[in-house]
Amino acid sequence: MSKPALQALVSITVMGSALGGTIDSSRMAPPAHCKCFPGDTCWPTPVEWEAFNKTVHGRLVATVPIASVCHHDSFTDYDATRCQHLRDDWLQPEIHYTSSSSIMAQYFANMSCDPFSKPSAKCTLGNYVRYAVNATGPDDYQKTMEFATHRNIRFVIRNTGHDYFGKSTGAGALALWTHHMKDISVLDYKSQGYNGKALKMGAGVQVQEALAAAHAEGLVVPGGQCQTVGIVGGYTQAGGHSLLASVIGLSADLVLEWEVVTPVGEYLVATPSNHSDLYWALSGGGGGAYAAVLSVTVKAFPDVQTAAGVLTFTLSSGVTRERFFRAVKAFLQNLPNLVDAGGAALWTLADGSSWSAHSTFLDAYIAMNAKQNVTDGNMAAYLWPRDPVTSEANAAKLTDTLNKLVTGTRVITGGLSFNVARPQKTVEPIPNSVNPAWRTSIHYSAFGLPYNRTSQAANDAAWDKITNVYAPSLDRLVPGGMSSYINEANPFDPNWKRVFYGNNYHQLLEIKDKYDPAGILYGLTVVGSDRYQVQKGGQLCRVQR
Ligand SMILES: Cc1cc2nc3c(=O)[nH]c(=O)nc-3n(C[C@H](O)[C@H](O)[C@H](O)COP(=O)(O)OP(=O)(O)OC[C@H]3O[C@@H](n4cnc5c(N)ncnc54)[C@H](O)[C@@H]3O)c2cc1C
Ligand SMILES: *[C@@H]1O[C@H](CO)[C@@H](O)[C@H](O)[C@H]1NC(C)=O
Ligand SMILES: *[C@@H]1O[C@H](CO)[C@@H](O)[C@H](O)[C@H]1NC(C)=O
Ligand SMILES: *[C@@H]1O[C@H](CO)[C@@H](O)[C@H](O)[C@H]1NC(C)=O
Ligand SMILES: *[C@@H]1O[C@H](CO)[C@@H](O)[C@H](O)[C@H]1NC(C)=O
Ligand SMILES: *[C@@H]1O[C@H](CO)[C@@H](O)[C@H](O)[C@H]1NC(C)=O
Ligand SMILES: *[C@@H]1O[C@H](CO)[C@@H](O)[C@H](O)[C@H]1NC(C)=O
Repeated sequence: MSKPALQALVSITVMGSALGGTIDSSRMAPPAHCKCFPGDTCWPTPVEWEAFNKTVHGRLVATVPIASVCHHDSFTDYDATRCQHLRDDWLQPEIHYTSSSSIMAQYFANMSCDPFSKPSAKCTLGNYVRYAVNATGPDDYQKTMEFATHRNIRFVIRNTGHDYFGKSTGAGALALWTHHMKDISVLDYKSQGYNGKALKMGAGVQVQEALAAAHAEGLVVPGGQCQTVGIVGGYTQAGGHSLLASVIGLSADLVLEWEVVTPVGEYLVATPSNHSDLYWALSGGGGGAYAAVLSVTVKAFPDVQTAAGVLTFTLSSGVTRERFFRAVKAFLQNLPNLVDAGGAALWTLADGSSWSAHSTFLDAYIAMNAKQNVTDGNMAAYLWPRDPVTSEANAAKLTDTLNKLVTGTRVITGGLSFNVARPQKTVEPIPNSVNPAWRTSIHYSAFGLPYNRTSQAANDAAWDKITNVYAPSLDRLVPGGMSSYINEANPFDPNWKRVFYGNNYHQLLEIKDKYDPAGILYGLTVVGSDRYQVQKGGQLCRVQR
């Protein structure tokens, strides 16, 4: 790694000149409307990164792509054995969430440093963040956002890297990495609206840790099907569904307070009565949009006896396709009874099992959990309103559409059925920004095509098919169109503002602009994100109007 040393030398000579000045004429100034990108004259020198590192107490981590052991590159030596281990474990979430840079939705890594490509193939920082601050508390949050703002560097909040939209990565970005903020406490919480048990969780707490901490006190909190998703990050901020949703509601419905640092560096605690606009936006309006969250406090409930069952029916010999889909229709029509009684159903539908062995997202859904692998697919999802399943004619249309969706394609579909209408028997409703479509929905349905590990062009084609063929076929079933769950949807949905946020969008945008006036919180389909565009090569630029 001789090049950085040389750069350090150059930078020392320019320290005395104006900030960002340089004598290296090969470096360019970025267009004024763009984020400062590595290689641009404004990009901090190694000495400046080191100075920043001191302000965050040496917690700055320079990215080494984890798959560099699979390549001949300048990061780490090629190591066939370690590379094979990495390939074997690539679908294990811990490979990625213990890293300061790796993400699980591989499409958004753009094969920058891919374990499955040849040793001679490129291994670059590409779409990975350049640096991450291994955060411990408000001071790291403040310093990191201040540096990113001041130096005009793309900023990313990264917890586990589970995000399906690649929002926890970014080319040329500085990440606030929250994974190690693991504090959990059980509280006897008293406020105007609530008097009872609560769980306060730091930004790095994952589902399994939250459930275990609650269980130890005879309590339960919503958790979601994947044990390693982060509670505070994308999950609760976008809504957060779980098998308990029909009984206790969405995770966002249970939030008592958010402890945050805003992009301008203010430490705040947002509750239904204080900074209530921010409370409203954070509770359902999407992760990584309004503020960097330090902790969330949610209502906890007495542990409940839970009954679980598995129903499987297959198209085996002697059963016609028509008969099979009649059974599917009967199942759909019975969903209202199930969810209105407080139940939830996880189900999938696929023609053959050509890729379900790898599609752990849905596999584990069926298996009622166990350890979940990373989704190896290009996935989109919708919220189905009750209407398409309640009347005979609509149920027939829906069944027919599902039949066409899976028959002879490699599409797999399925999801979670629930009733999260408010008010609920056990919950006092506090207004929040969860997409209103949730309240009238009966099912969250994911579908997708397998991820292609060797060809990004094939993945682009899969997304194209999802967006322009499969999604419209479902969309046609609902007057006004289907809605989606922000976390699990088509990242390329052309109508994402309405589809993801419903009529909350404009209010969310006002709140975002109030707390994040410089617009440093960007992510694909995040509120306000249409003001930016990722350029070829990865640089983030404001859209010129
Ligand atoms: C295998 C799998 C199973 C899933 N199962 C469920 C399920 O059952 N129910 C459900 O509701 N969802 C489920 N999800 C979706 C999940 O909720 C989202 O992927 C969620 O965004 C993950 O959040 P994270 O913080 O772990 O991920 P990250 O990728 O680290 O972050 C996601 C987003 O949240 C933002 N963010 C993270 N931390 C913070 C913070 N401290 N402050 C502000 N913004 C922050 C990031 O900027 C990013 O935009 C599942 C996802 C996967 C991959
Ligand atoms: C930040 O400082 C710590 C402690 O000195 C050091 O271990 C670490 O490598 C530094 N990070 C970078 C990116 O230089
Ligand atoms: C991040 O910080 C935690 C302690 O908060 C430490 O255990 C861990 O090793 C650090 N990771 C890196 C990559 O610096
Ligand atoms: C409301 O927030 C402000 C500023 O963050 C704080 O000073 C005040 O104590 C809070 N009020 C209550 C009742 O928590
Ligand atoms: C997860 O992936 C491993 C291989 O990495 C595989 O053996 C296992 O069966 C997968 N689990 C599920 C639930 O698909
Ligand atoms: C991936 O895409 C390439 C190019 O289209 C194709 O040749 C290959 O068969 C695909 N791989 C899989 C596993 O589908
Ligand atoms: C993805 O990688 C390709 C090939 O290396 C590159 O041409 C393209 O610009 C990259 N896309 C982004 C958005 O960075």
